Amino acid sequence: MPENKISEVLAKPDAALEMTLRPSLFSEFTGQLKVKERLEITVAAAKQRGEAIDHILFSGPPGLGKTTLAHIMAKSMGASLKSTSGPTIEKAGDLAGLLTNLEEGDVLFIDEIHRLQKTIEEYLYPAMEDFKLDIIIDQGPNARSVRLNLPRFTLIGATTRSGLLTAPLLTRFPIRERLDYYQADQLQQIVVRSARLLNVETEEQGAREIARRSRGTPRIANNLLRRVRDYAQVRHGGRITADVADKALAMLEIDENGLDEMDKRILETLIIKFGGGPVGISSLAVAVGEEPDTLEEVYEPYLIMEGYLKRTPQGRVATELSYKKLGLKIGQSSQPGLL
Ligand SMILES: Nc1ncnc2c1ncn2[C@@H]1O[C@H](COP(=O)(O)OP(=O)(O)OP(=O)(O)O)[C@@H](O)[C@H]1O
Ligand SMILES: [Mg+2]
Repeated sequence: MPENKISEVLAKPDAALEMTLRPSLFSEFTGQLKVKERLEITVAAAKQRGEAIDHILFSGPPGLGKTTLAHIMAKSMGASLKSTSGPTIEKAGDLAGLLTNLEEGDVLFIDEIHRLQKTIEEYLYPAMEDFKLDIIIDQGPNARSVRLNLPRFTLIGATTRSGLLTAPLLTRFPIRERLDYYQADQLQQIVVRSARLLNVETEEQGAREIARRSRGTPRIANNLLRRVRDYAQVRHGGRITADVADKALAMLEIDENGLDEMDKRILETLIIKFGGGPVGISSLAVAVGEEPDTLEEVYEPYLIMEGYLKRTPQGRVATELSYKKLGLKIGQSSQPGLL
């Protein structure tokens, strides 16, 4: 199993570091310009009217800034944010507890909202729409339904898999924003900002190199910056130049295009073991030794965006580019020693 898997580089760093690097204002949030403009308008309008903001759903691959934006929205409204996640709400009572503790204008942030149980989801509908909560108290013959009034709160949901959300839930979010992978120059700005906050001396070209190989993902850029910083410190007196960044990233087995060992393993398996596809995601996952969800959420979107992989109704198919990447010709699916 490769050691420097992107899924690990994507792991969320500890809370303190996350606090240091996470932008807390729109002005510090780089990129996603259209999304940002729409959100800033929403905030300004709600503030002018003295109302809470509408419910918002953020979707997109991990590490692109969904949680960050939820915090920025709350902060710019001067509202407090209560945070939870789909899988941690186990009973309707958990949700009732969260909702009834909210105050007027508060933001309730539900991460991984696609993992909310369906039975709990149903309690959310009237809460989101009418700010009412119907709960059943007592059990057996004494059980009765009680309707509670909730304060006018804002629900912000985040999901890496908006496709798994049910239609009734999806349509109850008046604002839905999808975050996309960042351009290299935006990521470069993010790296420069983080380097400044971490006090690492970084040349423009050094930041460029890290940005270029971070799969369009700020969290990866920040995590790679920290790994490159270690390398620069131990081997090169601390300064991150393009050359130092290149050497450090090569050591981490992240190639020129930002692909890691697992990406290559996926492409190799697809081409060599499955003759280029089509192959179903679960067979591919078993063959590379990774969870199907991780494959679908973390690896696949980037490979598809970069044109290495195609998703067809029959399954995943390798493109010409991935043959090229592995130094193979299309149709050539066996090379001794490759797997
Ligand atoms: N636009 C941005 N500008 C600067 N830094 C950013 C930006 N977006 C994200 N980051 C950085 O990347 C980190 C990851 O972002 P965040 O936690 O918001 O991602 P996420 O979309 O919620 O990911 P996940 O789906 O894994 O929860 C943040 O802590 C922040 O430091
Ligand atoms: Mg998040």
